[in-house]
Amino acid sequence: MNKYNLVSRIFHWTMAIAIIGTLALGLYMADLEFTPEVGELYGYHKATGVLILLAFFLRIIWVYKHKAPPFPSSMKECEKKLATAAHRLLYFFMFLMPMSGWAMSSSGGYPVSVFGLFTLPSIVPKNKELFDILHEVHEYAGFALIALLVIHVAAVIYHQFVRKDNVLGRMTGRN
Ligand code: HEM
Repeated sequence: MNKYNLVSRIFHWTMAIAIIGTLALGLYMADLEFTPEVGELYGYHKATGVLILLAFFLRIIWVYKHKAPPFPSSMKECEKKLATAAHRLLYFFMFLMPMSGWAMSSSGGYPVSVFGLFTLPSIVPKNKELFDILHEVHEYAGFALIALLVIHVAAVIYHQFVRKDNVLGRMTGRN
């Protein structure tokens, strides 16, 4: 069967929801004036971001041991290479977004608590210039990730309705 295994499919859809939700919350909260209530939103954003980082590491181990099914034979070699590059870039952002957020919080001297269960240590020293740089990295990487997600979904729609090769079915299990 030419589809991803169940664990890979669960990783894909739960992380997709978590990442899109964390992106949306990040954009929303960053525009608000800081109040204790907004501070709570920051706490949720950071905690889900940390869980995404944890899921990323588990997913990488899983993907390493369980290779993706082969692309449809109708795809050209250059298309397969492009798809593989886009998928690797998505993995890169799954790492960069939480790490830059964690480093930004550390450089600002802000705590990173995961739903009050545990607090992560600082990974960089407190430093205002570093904070400003990491803030920009986190913000622009977020915009780049949105662009990549739009391309990713557009590619799925193209495969579904133009090429009609049921690439979506590989990830929903209906293939
Ligand atoms: C996949 C994970 C993550 C995504 C997709 C994400 C995305 C975003 C986005 C799009 C923004 C808005 C940027 C802006 O317009 O200024 C933001 C803000 C922020 N993020 Fe994240 N983030 C993630 C993980 C984290 C983590 C793990 C932390 C900290 C531990 C964090 C801390 C923050 C903070 C403090 C802000 C507000 C910055 C400000 O005050 O303007 N993020 N995030």
